[in-house]
Amino acid sequence: MRRVITYGTFDLLHYGHINLLRQAKALGDYLIVALSTDEFNWVEKHKKSYFPYEVRKQLLEAIRYVDLVIPEESWEQKKTDAKEYHVDVFVIGDDWTGKFDFLKDQGVEVVYLPRTPEVSTTQIKQDLQQG
Ligand code: CTP
Repeated sequence: MRRVITYGTFDLLHYGHINLLRQAKALGDYLIVALSTDEFNWVEKHKKSYFPYEVRKQLLEAIRYVDLVIPEESWEQKKTDAKEYHVDVFVIGDDWTGKFDFLKDQGVEVVYLPRTPEVSTTQIKQDLQQG
C-alpha cells in the first residue's frame, strides 16, 4: 500500500484542487489530506478562509480520491506526520518547489505537481468582488 500525503487550505474548492487531488491519488493507493485549520491559516498564512475547517473537511471527504483528512496545525508537523502515517509520497503544487525536499532524508518521495493555470481561491474571491 503506497501512502500519499498532501497539504493545503482547499477553501472554495475548485477544479485546480480536484486536478491536484486526482494526480496525488494516482501516485499511490491511499491519499491523506492535511487540511489547514482556520487558526493555522490565519496566524501562519495570513489568510482568512471563507468556509470553516469542518465544512472544508466535509467537502474533501466527499471526493473519491481522498481517503483521510487530518488537521494541519503547524509547519513542523510534516516530519512527524510522515512517520505516524507511514507516508511514502509527499505531493504538493509547484508553487512550493524545493521547499519540502528535506522530507527526502526520511525516505519520503517528494513530488511537485504543475498547478492548474488561471485558477486560485484568491483569484475567485477577487473576481467575485469586482462583480
Ligand atoms: N493548486 C493547484 N492548482 C491551482 C490551485 C491550487 O494545483 N490552480 C494546488 C496547490 O498547489 C496546493 C493545493 O492545490 O497543492 C491546495 O492549494 P491552496 O493554496 O489551498 O489553493 P489556492 O487556490 O492556491 O489558494 P490561495 O489562492 O488561497 O493560495
